[in-house]
Amino acid sequence: MKRLAVLASGRGSNLQAIIDAVRAGELALEIVGAASDQPGAQALARAAVAGIPTAAFPRAQYGSRAEQEAALLAWLTSLRVDIVALAGYMRILSARFIQELGCPILNIHPSLLPAFPGLNAQRQALDYGVRVSGCTVHFVDEGVDSGPIILQEAVPVFPDDTVESLSERILKVEHRVYPQALKMVAEGLVRPERRCGRG
Ligand code: GRF
Repeated sequence: MKRLAVLASGRGSNLQAIIDAVRAGELALEIVGAASDQPGAQALARAAVAGIPTAAFPRAQYGSRAEQEAALLAWLTSLRVDIVALAGYMRILSARFIQELGCPILNIHPSLLPAFPGLNAQRQALDYGVRVSGCTVHFVDEGVDSGPIILQEAVPVFPDDTVESLSERILKVEHRVYPQALKMVAEGLVRPERRCGRG
């Protein structure tokens, strides 16, 4: 069985959805660790409740970003991970980290990429006035929310939506789509080297 680690900075509802999918037998992966740059992240508490080993790598504890990443890399390597899932992880990973880790890294983003990358995607969608938004699971490359897309799902945007109401609608879909995308990667149906539809 492939070995998965999850990185999260906050609430951890996507981590929970992944844990639940594994428990339900819908996702054949072993979650071998959960880590955060925020020691108090709710995500770490959720992992601990599920009996998953946790670790925190707070940026302030390291002299530089490179040192923080080196510590995270050493931890992931010691766990012999096959796949890493970012689930609300709020730090950009360097090209060097991605290359040295050498396994697929996935991310989930609350918009239909390439629309509205970066922070506050739901706010960006509302400000633009789109009528459809959604979520995207993609492979991580050295850019911001720019790697090859694995799965997307759309949700409507209503005229009276707020950031909260739209975020909630998207989040429900995220919780279904992220385990599905992980399943596709675990089964080798998609690979990070090339975009779907390209020869
Ligand atoms: C989600 O909206 C995800 O798309 C974005 O950050 C949020 C994380 O939420 N990358 P949670 O911590 O999984 O609840």
